[in-house]
Amino acid sequence: MQFPLSSTMLSAFLLLPFLFFDSQSLFVSADSTYDYFANCLTKQGIPSDEISHILYSPENASFTTVLNDYVRNQRFNTSTTKKPTIIVTPLDIQGIQAAIFCTKEADLQLKIRSGGHDYEGISYVSRKTFVILDLFNIRNITFDMDSKTAWVQSGATLGELFYGIWKQSNVYGFPAGVCPTVGVGGHFSGGGYGPMLRKFGLTVDNVVDAQIIDVNGKVLGRKGMGEDLFWAIRGGGGASFGVIVAYKINLVPVPETVTVFNVKKFEADNATDILVQWQQVADKYDENLFIRVLVQPVTANNTKVIRLTFIGFYMGDSDSLLSVLNSHLPLLKLQKSDCTETSWVKSMMIWMNFDNSTAEEVLLNRTPDSVNFLKRKSDYVLTPITKNGFTSIFNKMVELGKVGLVFNPYGGKMSEIAESDAPFPHRKGVIYKIQYSVNWQDASLNLTKQYLGEARELYSFMTPYVSSNPRQAFLNYRDLDIGQNANGKNSYKQGKVYGEKYFKGNFDRLVKVKTAVDPGNFFRNEQSIPTLPY
Ligand SMILES: Cc1cc2nc3c(=O)[nH]c(=O)nc-3n(C[C@H](O)[C@H](O)[C@H](O)COP(=O)(O)OP(=O)(O)OC[C@H]3O[C@@H](n4cnc5c(N)ncnc54)[C@H](O)[C@@H]3O)c2cc1C
Ligand SMILES: *[C@@H]1O[C@H](CO)[C@@H](O)[C@H](O)[C@H]1NC(C)=O
Ligand SMILES: *[C@@H]1O[C@H](CO)[C@@H](O)[C@H](O)[C@H]1NC(C)=O
Ligand SMILES: *[C@@H]1O[C@H](CO)[C@@H](O)[C@H](O)[C@H]1NC(C)=O
Ligand SMILES: *[C@@H]1O[C@H](CO)[C@@H](O)[C@H](O)[C@H]1NC(C)=O
Ligand SMILES: *[C@@H]1O[C@H](CO)[C@@H](O)[C@H](O)[C@H]1NC(C)=O
Ligand SMILES: *[C@@H]1O[C@H](CO)[C@@H](O)[C@H](O)[C@H]1NC(C)=O
Ligand SMILES: *[C@@H]1O[C@H](CO)[C@@H](O)[C@H](O)[C@H]1NC(C)=O
Repeated sequence: MQFPLSSTMLSAFLLLPFLFFDSQSLFVSADSTYDYFANCLTKQGIPSDEISHILYSPENASFTTVLNDYVRNQRFNTSTTKKPTIIVTPLDIQGIQAAIFCTKEADLQLKIRSGGHDYEGISYVSRKTFVILDLFNIRNITFDMDSKTAWVQSGATLGELFYGIWKQSNVYGFPAGVCPTVGVGGHFSGGGYGPMLRKFGLTVDNVVDAQIIDVNGKVLGRKGMGEDLFWAIRGGGGASFGVIVAYKINLVPVPETVTVFNVKKFEADNATDILVQWQQVADKYDENLFIRVLVQPVTANNTKVIRLTFIGFYMGDSDSLLSVLNSHLPLLKLQKSDCTETSWVKSMMIWMNFDNSTAEEVLLNRTPDSVNFLKRKSDYVLTPITKNGFTSIFNKMVELGKVGLVFNPYGGKMSEIAESDAPFPHRKGVIYKIQYSVNWQDASLNLTKQYLGEARELYSFMTPYVSSNPRQAFLNYRDLDIGQNANGKNSYKQGKVYGEKYFKGNFDRLVKVKTAVDPGNFFRNEQSIPTLPY
């Protein structure tokens, strides 16, 4: 056994009804991995009728369905993608504790999945023999409107959270992303942001407590885990430290009326000039305003050209929005007729591309209409790009033909929070973040190779325009190209390669926390935090 039972582990499991001293003999005599897990979970006190509902091996007919239910990137839904040896879908804390214990005893890798939106699929793919701990049953949301707080369990989606808030109040909201099916577990632990980040900061800037189960099966709240571990799971990625069961959040006040818009510009509209002006002001003007820009190669008049889409969110009515834009971004020439005044929850739904007549209940739908093949990468812009720079980037994008960029401005609250306040370090000095984005629907491997290659080529082309030493990256835009630890490996040197891009100077503190809470590196993946090298 790689991780011998420690005394703390023993005392943690004394709380459970059955002790499990005899793992090795049991494992050897088990007929299959399913039987081993069924036995082990039984010994951990999980009733057998429950086990028959929460444990799946590849021999179960429903295995493929339960695996694919939360696959959100078709690149990892192929016959050659390695499948887990077991999937456990616990109903409660005791089930999670038992799953951790039994996976550790069997010396297998554990992959934790909440919403399954990891762009590299690392919550449900591995090259080693692995177990998926799937948290879709752990998704209660409990509001306390006296304190304007909520406990949100990891398996809940952002859609369920936004819907729940809307049911409580139309003058409270929460700063998180604008995809309804994204899971709380990955989104929060990786930082999380949405159109209110200039006003309220990241998701994790509004988290006040958490509940985690550590490698010894201990259930810890903020007090029990201590400030270092609480700090780490606010942006350092949950999967290096334990299984996060829930986060407690502060809701934020929003006006009854907010305004959104979505306008498209081509070079005939002087699109590049508008973008240059946007870049001068987008991180500086009223922090109630957030304007994202999509930069996409599209075909118009039989020619590939660049189209810019300016997508706005403003916490106020359209008249005050227009006055901010007239003084700061007049080249956009935004008209009142471009603006939609609506409630906060509807504004989020419009950003999610729902028609504005759609009922809020659509937020409760946990399954997206379609799942694409996709690749994402990220960069940070710290120095303005010149007009000539944009022109040459656009030419390159037209030449490549498909990869798009998304510019997300920072500033406001983001600049007021210290780099070390949470593991997420991209604060003051960032003008905007870039997301590289390419989606496709065709399964042919050639296309996958081609689009991955094109995304990497554009990333390489962008080198002179973006941050360097380190070239900063956003953990929630998971990108294994920027460095990885082969599964099961625990190289500090290799971890530092991606760790400094995601966390800058916070990497070393994350390593210290990791070494203290999981010295045996049970909680590991391709880009987890390594332990100290001794
Ligand atoms: C369509 C789409 C839109 C997106 N929009 C945004 C956006 O607007 N803003 C933004 O910030 N990000 C956005 N993202 C990125 C998203 O936040 C991350 O992919 C996030 O990690 C997804 O969380 P998840 O629970 O769905 O993913 P998972 O794939 O389930 O998990 C992601 C990672 O977190 C770990 N993990 C998950 N749950 C737990 C847990 N309970 N305890 C410990 N570790 C855990 C997993 O093991 C894995 O390493 C988007 C992604 C997609 C696909
Ligand atoms: C998986 O198969 C086992 C053995 O046949 C069965 O007992 C169990 O109920 C099945 N699990 C599920 C979730 O269907
Ligand atoms: C995975 O692939 C299969 C076979 O091509 C397909 O039927 C299924 O819908 C895919 N799953 C997802 C989540 O898209
Ligand atoms: C969710 O809430 C219900 C109702 O309060 C409770 O019965 C259930 O145990 C909770 N589930 C979890 C996973 O906490
Ligand atoms: C584009 O800019 C040129 C030069 O400043 C100007 O003459 C022209 O009117 C602008 N076009 C639009 C559509 O604003
Ligand atoms: C396409 O051509 C028409 C007619 O010449 C023109 O008005 C329009 O601006 C062109 N579209 C783009 C995106 O350049
Ligand atoms: C929905 O959009 C239409 C078209 O843009 C607009 O006329 C209507 O007022 C909008 N309705 C709401 C409730 O925002
Ligand atoms: C994939 O690429 C190879 C070599 O470039 C080519 O021979 C083959 O026909 C391509 N397959 C498809 C399905 O396009």
